Amino acid sequence: MPIPDKLLEMLNRQLNSELYSAYLYLSMAAYFESKGLRGFASWMEAQAREELGHAMRIYRYINDRGGRVVLEAVEKPPSTWPSVLDAVKHALEHEKKVTRSIEELFREARSQGDAATEVFLHWFIEEQVEEEALFSDLVWRVEMAGEQPQALLMLDSMLGERGRKEK
Ligand code: FEO
Repeated sequence: MPIPDKLLEMLNRQLNSELYSAYLYLSMAAYFESKGLRGFASWMEAQAREELGHAMRIYRYINDRGGRVVLEAVEKPPSTWPSVLDAVKHALEHEKKVTRSIEELFREARSQGDAATEVFLHWFIEEQVEEEALFSDLVWRVEMAGEQPQALLMLDSMLGERGRKEK
């Protein structure tokens, strides 16, 4: 059974939104880099690579089901934020939005009786639980560091570990 039209359109939109996530996090990485926070930057670069991976999963799935991938323009992300805390809070809010759109996709797959898409989306539903936890933790750490440059630098060097491990 081919992917129903509306669901296919939503999957293509989700593919675009994962590409936007990669773009947004890469833009945040560049912002952190400009502030001399290379650990934060490399953490966000690793996140941007993950988002590309999410986009490619959807790309693969649509093709495997015989659907047509249609790539639209990727929106321009912001290039600066008032503070490090604002940037990471923005990332967390963005992830919450992604969770809602995955849930919408899941409901549509269920209402169309498309079992394969429902099962495909399980991975994303679990991933979003992890993503929100990861970003909540980051927001909490930045809030704890507060205005103290030393605490922020310690956090920066800790976050750099992720980038180094995942390169
Ligand atoms: Fe692809 Fe961070 O959700």
